[in-house]
Order: sequence, then C-alpha cells, then structure tokens
Amino acid sequence: MRYEQLGRTGIKVSKIGLGTWQFGASYWGWGKEIGEEEAISIIRRALELGINFIDTAEIYGWGRSERVIGKALSRLDREEVVIATKVFPYRVTVSGVLKALRNSLRRLNTSYVDLYQIHWPSPIFPLKGAMRALERELEEGRIRAIGVSNFSLKQMEEARSYLQRHDLASDQIEYNLLKRDPERDLIPHCQREGITIIAYSPLAQGLLTGKYGPGRMPKGLQRRLNIWHLYGRIDWSVVERLKELADRKGGEPSPAQLALAWVIRDEGVDAIPGAKSLDQLRSNAKAAEIELSDEDISFLEVPE
Ligand SMILES: NC(=O)c1ccc[n+]([C@@H]2O[C@H](COP(=O)([O-])OP(=O)(O)OC[C@H]3O[C@@H](n4cnc5c(N)ncnc54)[C@H](OP(=O)(O)O)[C@@H]3O)[C@@H](O)[C@H]2O)c1
Repeated sequence: MRYEQLGRTGIKVSKIGLGTWQFGASYWGWGKEIGEEEAISIIRRALELGINFIDTAEIYGWGRSERVIGKALSRLDREEVVIATKVFPYRVTVSGVLKALRNSLRRLNTSYVDLYQIHWPSPIFPLKGAMRALERELEEGRIRAIGVSNFSLKQMEEARSYLQRHDLASDQIEYNLLKRDPERDLIPHCQREGITIIAYSPLAQGLLTGKYGPGRMPKGLQRRLNIWHLYGRIDWSVVERLKELADRKGGEPSPAQLALAWVIRDEGVDAIPGAKSLDQLRSNAKAAEIELSDEDISFLEVPE
C-alpha cells in the first residue's frame, strides 16, 4: 500500500481507501448482495491490507453505514483508522453541523472524526458560520481535519477563506477515466495548495471494471444515479482500452485495477472505491502497487 499525507494535516492515509455508501443502501443490494456481517469483514480485512482510510456520510443508508463502521471499530484499534464522514447540505447551519457531528460520533461509536466534510455546497445556507463552527470543533478535538465535497475551485476557495486558523484538508469529487474535467483547474490548484483530492466513483460505479457494456447494464439502474444521469453519453471506448491494456499485460492487472491506478497516479490524489465483497476489496487494494508508464497513461487517455 502507498500512503500520503491528508492535506497538510500530518494524517497519513492510504492512496486507496474504502468507500462505504454501499453499506446500508438497498439500491446497492444491501440485505441481498451484502449485509452487516460481510460489511464488517470488509472493513476489518481492509485494515489488514493496509487500507486505513474509510469514507462514509450521515446520509448513507440513513446512518446505517456509520453504524456498521461503529460496530467494526469496536473490535479495532481506533488510532489505526482514519474515518471520514460528511454532513448533508440541508444541515449546513451552525446548529445543524454541530448536531450532525454529534449524531455521527454516536453512530460511529467514537469520540472524534478524522475528517469531517461538507457533502455538497448548500444552495441555501451561507457557509461562513458552519466553517467557523467546524474550526472550533477541530480545536476541541472532535474533528482532526475539515474537508469539503463536490465543491468547485471557487466554492472551495470561498470555504477556505472562512477558516481563520486552519486550512481545508481535502475536496472529495467525482473523478475517473470517464469524468476528467477536474483536471482542468481544480486538481492542479489543489496539488499546488496542498489540498488532497479524494476521488469518489473511481471505477465509475463498476463501469470501468469491464463487466458492463451497452448491452449489459447493471440491475437497478437507479442505484448508479450519478453515472447514468450525469454522463449523458458513456464513452465505451475508454472501457475497451482498459481491457486491451489488461490483455497486453497478460490479464494482470485487471481493467479495474488499471482504472484505479490511473486515478491515483499522481501525488495529492487518493481514491475511495466501494467494495461489496472481499474479492473486490483485495483487487482494489492491490491497485496501489501498480506503476503505470507514461505510455500506459497516454494509451488510456482518449484524446477529446
Ligand atoms: N461525496 C460524494 O458526493 C460521493 C458520491 C458518490 C460516492 N462517494 C463515496 O465514494 C465511494 C466510491 O464511489 P462509488 O461507490 O460511487 O463508485 P465506485 O467506487 O466507482 O464503484 C463501486 C462499485 O463498483 C463495483 N466494484 C468495486 N470494486 C470492484 C472490483 N474490483 N471488480 C468489479 N467490480 C467492483 C461494486 O459494485 P457492483 O458489484 O454492484 O458492480 C462496487 O459497489 C462511495 O462508497 C462513497 O464512500 C461520495
């Protein structure tokens, strides 16, 4: 496993983390394809594989994801795990974030969260009060770092400007081979400023693994809302290139591992793939060991 500092916080995180939206959400097959016991085994195995960074949110499974992590944590060394959670934007007022944080701490069964993120920019509430409240929480020890998610460069800089004594640690955004627009300005800016990019949906919710195609779509499309609705048109040639590169290398690494290795190829960008089985987890963790050559990278990057 490879590790990097989260922002400039001194907190060490694995470049491949574990996303846990899948834990508790029925549209991801919760209760059918995966349940609490499997989720707890995945978390424990993740730690054994060197993955120390676990991402969740109050909204995932309406708190179920955090509760499952809380249960897993009771059998783990808390200090070995870096837990990131998020407050949903309808709560981004001073009292709203404070209440949300306390509820998350209770569900997670812990006295502090390593990274507390604003899940989406709020179209309604001004950010200033919430950011200052989080800064006080950080100084009182209930948070170790403050982050945002789905913030543009401008929104991130605004959030940053409200912090008086600390800096933002990270911006969690959708970034993968099918969603590359953050490369234009946000990613280079964050790399210069020492703010970590946490890439979510790094496998484009399964599309980049090669197991889906135009005639082979996953069951229950609604669970992959951001992919199917936001992309509009999926460029399947990207998936074909991943398969071709995997073939050229003899099938190992797999297309999924190549897709993850591409996301984390540079410093300052980490990925948090979700996993619904120990096999998926193992495969994803191993992607951190892959070094892509410049040739591999340009082969995967279809010219626009
Ligand atoms: N901040 C935000 O707004 C936001 C939004 C979305 C996600 N997130 C976070 O980012 C995490 C990851 O994003 P995501 O879940 O949207 O997408 P993802 O990580 O790109 O895809 C995860 C899904 O891909 C499939 N998969 C994973 N590893 C695989 C492997 N090795 N081989 C084959 N299939 C594999 C599994 O689904 P199947 O087995 O069903 O195919 C898995 O549930 C989430 O869990 C969440 O923590 C954050």
